[in-house]
Amino acid sequence: MITDTIDIPAIRADFPILAREVRGRPLVYLDNAATTHKPLSVLEEVLAFYRDLNSNVHRGAHSLSEQASDRYEAARETVRRFIGAADACEVVFTHGTTDAINLLAASLGEQHVGAGDEIVVTEMEHHSNLVPWQKLCARIGATLKIVPFDEDGSLRTEMLESRLTERTRLFALTHVSNVLGTVNPVKELVRLAHARDIPVLVDAAQSVPRFPVDVGDLGCDFLVVSGHKMYAETGIGVLYGRAEWLRRLPAGRYGGGMVATVDWERTTEADLPFKFEAGTPNVAAAVSLDAAIRYLNAIGMEAVAEHERQLMRYAMRRLTELDGVRVYGETAGKCGALSFNLDGAGAYDVALILDTLGIAVRSGTHCAQPIMRHYGVNTAVRASFALYNTTEEIDALIDGVKRARAMLR
Ligand code: ALA
Repeated sequence: MITDTIDIPAIRADFPILAREVRGRPLVYLDNAATTHKPLSVLEEVLAFYRDLNSNVHRGAHSLSEQASDRYEAARETVRRFIGAADACEVVFTHGTTDAINLLAASLGEQHVGAGDEIVVTEMEHHSNLVPWQKLCARIGATLKIVPFDEDGSLRTEMLESRLTERTRLFALTHVSNVLGTVNPVKELVRLAHARDIPVLVDAAQSVPRFPVDVGDLGCDFLVVSGHKMYAETGIGVLYGRAEWLRRLPAGRYGGGMVATVDWERTTEADLPFKFEAGTPNVAAAVSLDAAIRYLNAIGMEAVAEHERQLMRYAMRRLTELDGVRVYGETAGKCGALSFNLDGAGAYDVALILDTLGIAVRSGTHCAQPIMRHYGVNTAVRASFALYNTTEEIDALIDGVKRARAMLR
């Protein structure tokens, strides 16, 4: 059993969807790395925004537009404090992590990365932190280099130095693997890269919802987050960038809202962060992210982290006790995602059997085909946790896996 640092029954009551049934059984939702559910306070703030404030932002002198703009900027300030950014101008709202990385790739590709340059990523990246860099390299004649990981899912950090050269223009890595649960030693790796003046991008989609993350402490140059994986709506994310970088870089995307002046010959860009926010932003989703962060802060990220640690320890112990189960990723302190396969059984079949028991897990490649290839499998089952999960739900998962094993072997 785990000793809860947070009041789980009270928290579960904040998430109405957790009370529903699936296939006649109580829902056991273990697909939180894909997306989390949203507490009532988040849903209510979105409704209140549309009901009372709805207007475009930074585009009108009328009162509603001003109030909506203030609300949007308050959300930016909430994000700034939550991730420890020095200034709100370093917080760019995007539509999600993938969108944030594509925006950064477009911007870096215009000015900072050229033919013959190199970008370094790890073998455990989600496709969103791999494909944009691969495509950029192909387009401009640069080279993508890979830092591999070991069988236990730990990054081979000793290989990083051999991958960094005077042509390296970016090191992009995930903070927490969405498949292996590995927590990478980002701070130490940032130091190594910075010793060679190489900027570092951290994909924090799976870390920021699970433990305290401070960009000043990590020392990274860029960091990206998705709102929907941290109890907010879909369609909102963040590109954090150190101001000195964001000032130097071109906008990457162009249109309304990101300009200072436009004439037929040329356009000048607006100040930070607006120059990176072309087009009407998803204002209501930014408000939902603000509400979600306030919800997390009220619980306390240290308490959330302790709950997640205990859940993972319990789940790892119970799952690895079972015969015929192969777990991917066995690093100490792994967090969030627990991927596995049953000998002789397809991941999709296991997930379907679990679904008949009301248990939601993900099956497939988890947008990380290189990790599947590393282990010589096509797909895996993944259970992933959030602050509202319980040990009883993990027990239900284990019983479900046993049932799948009996049916499929
Ligand atoms: N990136 C999400 C996941 O890992 C969709 O499931």
